[in-house]
Amino acid sequence: MATNSKIMTTTAGNPIADNQNSLSAGSRGPLLVQDYQLLEKLAHQNRERIPERVVHAKGSAAFGTLTITQDISRYTKAKVLQKGAVTDLFLRFSTVAGERGAADAERDVRGFAIKFYTDEGNWDLVGNNTPVFFIRDPQKFPDFIHTQKRHPRTNLRSNTAAWDFWSLSPESLHQVTILMSDRGLPKDFRHIHGFGSHTYSLINAENERFWVKFHFKSEQGIENYTNAEAEAVVAKSRESSQEDLFSAIERQEFPRWKFKIQIMTKEQAEVCAFNPFDLTKVWPHGDYPLIDVGVMELNRNPQNYFAEVEQSSFSPSNVVSGISWSPDKMLQARVFSYADAHRYRVGTHYEMLPINRPKVEVNTYHADGSMRLDVPDFGDAYYEPNSFGGPKEDKTYLEPAFPVNGDGDRYDHRIGNDDFSQPGALFRLMNEDQKAQLFGNIARAMDGVPREIVDRQIALFDQADPAYGAGVRHALGI
Ligand code: HEM
Repeated sequence: MATNSKIMTTTAGNPIADNQNSLSAGSRGPLLVQDYQLLEKLAHQNRERIPERVVHAKGSAAFGTLTITQDISRYTKAKVLQKGAVTDLFLRFSTVAGERGAADAERDVRGFAIKFYTDEGNWDLVGNNTPVFFIRDPQKFPDFIHTQKRHPRTNLRSNTAAWDFWSLSPESLHQVTILMSDRGLPKDFRHIHGFGSHTYSLINAENERFWVKFHFKSEQGIENYTNAEAEAVVAKSRESSQEDLFSAIERQEFPRWKFKIQIMTKEQAEVCAFNPFDLTKVWPHGDYPLIDVGVMELNRNPQNYFAEVEQSSFSPSNVVSGISWSPDKMLQARVFSYADAHRYRVGTHYEMLPINRPKVEVNTYHADGSMRLDVPDFGDAYYEPNSFGGPKEDKTYLEPAFPVNGDGDRYDHRIGNDDFSQPGALFRLMNEDQKAQLFGNIARAMDGVPREIVDRQIALFDQADPAYGAGVRHALGI
């Protein structure tokens, strides 16, 4: 046993003489209100929690590095993506729908959020283990999430709500097909791929913009559970993915992912048969091949779950020079939503916490606010412009302009978008066993759903491929 000579103190550093017995009037008597030690302990305990994330509440994370092995400077000037660059990172995996204490081995999308601590500030790539998403217009995000969370009256998850929403939102079919397939229930976090999912941009030294998709391919391979296997796991452990990741890293079995990109030029985007900024679509690899870029490794467990994993705050708004966004409406909404969530969940100065703090100097003119951790040293330069040598903008960081056109309007995103070809193609790629799993998983997930909703959803499967609809009908016995 380790011996420790440190003296226990209050939060103000005052030594504590007795941490076993409260201060009372007589040995059986009532407590004295001057037992500040007790008051502080109880008060602090009442403040041990912060709100859980509104989505992706249950997660596990680790530190690691991104190493760039290939030259992609023709596409980007970002220092983090130059050949030879090695960048520290923090990767948080998560399930989406469950609360902070939910079981890991659930059928759900897995979050794959990476914070790269680059020499040009933090780059956060907040992705999933799927290349597409359920919706293409952010107006629908809160509605969609409500169907994944608990019913307000029963406080139970609702199959009816999920299929009602999906059957009324044909754009969800691609992601629903992935979720209900064998890949919808990963064994753990090491055996999944990661995707930036959205189309982003890369900008090179000549200020040319390219559209890009980011991919992380698991070197561990893909491993999934069937529903029955997962039920047996959950009966024993709700923390199966956390246990797997933490213990693998403790054993020094460091998980790795190959980092790759797909590139689409401006000219290709203009003639692309589908909207390349539609998050419900993948870019076919035949037309837009994967390009090797580097390797990502996780090699260090967090020291403290709350301080590091729970307080980690990722946001698609964090980009560095040479990497930027695209017109994807979903991505644009996410640029707002995350930092707003952090200000509420963690606090105004969440970026100053050690886990979030960039490894570069931060020079803003934001003032004050609750829990400002540092003592700013800007003298008279507390506004901008100023004559006192305060930090200034630098026009060399300007992005190239991107063209926009059209009237400001609420365009119906369900018109003129093909929601069926890609899910149909994915279905036809599955082998017989995978198809059987898909049908069975859907049938089980439809338990208790009214027939009208089931029929509406099967009509969508039919449009993707008649064999898809037929298989589900058969599994449901209709
Ligand atoms: C977490 C909003 C779509 C991946 C979150 C959080 C919010 C949010 C508010 C909680 C943040 C926090 O409290 O720390 C949205 C909105 C979306 C959207 C408004 C669409 C308009 C997506 C998509 C992806 C994604 C398309 C993946 C491609 C994640 C991940 C997390 C997350 C991985 C957890 C990050 C972490 O580990 O802390 N989202 N989201 N989200 N979201 Fe989204």
